[in-house]
Amino acid sequence: MTAPRFLSLTQPDDAALAAEAAAGLGRPAAAVSPKFLYDALGSRLFDAITELDEYALTRREAALFAAHGAAIADTVLQATGPAPVLVDVGAGDGTKAARLFAALAPRRYVAVDISTGYLQASLARLAREHPGLELVGVGLDFAGGLHLPPDVVDSPALLFYPGSSIGNFTPDEARRLLADMRAASRGGAVLVGVDLVKAASRLEAAYDDELGVTAAFNRNLLRRLNALLGADFRPRQWRHVALFDAAASRVEMHLQAREALTVRWPGGERRFEAGERIHTENAYKWTTSAFARLLADAGLVHQRHWTDEAGEFAVFVAW
Ligand code: AVI
Repeated sequence: MTAPRFLSLTQPDDAALAAEAAAGLGRPAAAVSPKFLYDALGSRLFDAITELDEYALTRREAALFAAHGAAIADTVLQATGPAPVLVDVGAGDGTKAARLFAALAPRRYVAVDISTGYLQASLARLAREHPGLELVGVGLDFAGGLHLPPDVVDSPALLFYPGSSIGNFTPDEARRLLADMRAASRGGAVLVGVDLVKAASRLEAAYDDELGVTAAFNRNLLRRLNALLGADFRPRQWRHVALFDAAASRVEMHLQAREALTVRWPGGERRFEAGERIHTENAYKWTTSAFARLLADAGLVHQRHWTDEAGEFAVFVAW
């Protein structure tokens, strides 16, 4: 069994994160990046969200891979050639990518995530389960650019970005990220999962479930801000709001102050009137034709995609 290799391309910098969060809270319309949703508890709450009746996205994507896995892998291998490097963007525990190992027979698995700390346990497990496969963990905040060293991707690669995480970027940011992925693939391909536009009532239920798990996921961001900034948010004072904006084709998550209050942290404070909101996440919903245009604008002009029968989710291979 070969031990996984790790490299940190972004040094975690809590002071910079705290400054970014404080700047977001200080804007006239307060907004903070959705990356603050994912501390240890937030990641667990997100895993719980994927089990919810209302949040079908994860199951729909898995069903598409189960039904069309062979055709998807064939298309990938035609674009990349045999034994591509498999780059898992925002890898998490690596389970989704591991399901591709048998069909793609990658020569190396590269797991990219915001911190290598999170990748250690996942790669140790994959090393036991797939002895002989070369494993590399890369700590990188790829929202700031996805540039991988040439010894990590030294031949055509498949850049794998499942789960409709691309939807958490604005269309401009998404185009830039896809162009970065195209460049990082070194003549290979990208494989992206995209949640599609559907009835507003379904979308709003998916982001505001009856059990309140998504509400807890959103309000947990306030705990994270307390830890990061030393702020005194009281999650009880905030209501979870999820709204589909059809014109922008996105679900917006907000936290809304239930009463007038002032939040304080060392070196700053912000007053919120009752009903005032902090914007915490966008989840863009695409049509297949709009996403095909986005890929083409990112230089990925060759494409194939699969959708489920209900037309709710799509998997694109593009190169
Ligand atoms: C990670 N991302 C694709 C999820 C989404 O659906 O936008 C995050 C999420 N937010 C609320 N529920 C799930």
